[in-house]
Amino acid sequence: MLLKDKVCIITGATRGIGLAMTRFFAEQGAWVFVNGRDESQVQAVVTQINSDGGKADAFVCDVADPESVKNAFKLFLSKSKKLDVLINNAGILDDALIGMVSPAQIERTFGVNTYSVIYMSQYASRIMSRNKSGSIVNMTSIIGTNGNCGQAVYGGSKAAVIGITKSLAKELASTNIRVNAIAPGFIDTDMARSIPDSVFETRVSSIAMKRIGQPGEIASVAAFLSSDLAAYVTGQVIGVDGGMLI
Ligand code: NAI
Repeated sequence: MLLKDKVCIITGATRGIGLAMTRFFAEQGAWVFVNGRDESQVQAVVTQINSDGGKADAFVCDVADPESVKNAFKLFLSKSKKLDVLINNAGILDDALIGMVSPAQIERTFGVNTYSVIYMSQYASRIMSRNKSGSIVNMTSIIGTNGNCGQAVYGGSKAAVIGITKSLAKELASTNIRVNAIAPGFIDTDMARSIPDSVFETRVSSIAMKRIGQPGEIASVAAFLSSDLAAYVTGQVIGVDGGMLI
């Protein structure tokens, strides 16, 4: 098993890519702390994983709210004294052409997609450094590396995640905490399905492999980066996009 006995927190874990990671990590032997804002949704995932023979617990908080994050870590520490892996996966997509972007939209998007990565990493790295070991995986996007029309806010929030990843990789390397990012292309989740049909088709046709990616195809790369197989990999942005950017 790739992640046997590793304690992992996965944010935004009740659907989409986060849910696929939660299931795969549990199958690989991890003790998964499932994050979401809605306690009943989180509990439903925890119950499912445990009844399938895995090990899961709840980590309920709004990752964009520092007080909420602090309280969730307090509760976490009453259950586990160590943390091996943090996956900063929670994210929102709220596209608009530049003339239509509102300050509230900028604040909300950066809060969930970017500030949360710093809030979560602060507490996580403190716990990881006690054992001089850990892996943080941040979700960025090809929109963060290459940009797109109508996505200045989302693209900016995801580009910032790359800067955070590389800075933390340098800062935390001396305590043997690795920090990497995954840049998915177009993955079949509610988020991807929220765009208009015509844009959906155009995007799929721009992929060299001519198909949308599956959440499990991100989960397997996240598991690799979280595992000891990637013991010498840090500060990297791994594209998982079916050749969208070749
Ligand atoms: P999704 O919308 O299906 O899932 C996102 C999850 O984050 C949801 O469970 C949502 O409740 C949770 N979330 C949102 N705000 C939160 C908050 N404040 N606190 C806690 N949880 C919160 O999205 P999907 O597609 O699974 O995306 C996961 C990550 O991958 C996101 O960061 C997204 O930006 C990124 N990504 C997705 C791509 C795609 O094509 N689906 C492409 C590139 C990046």
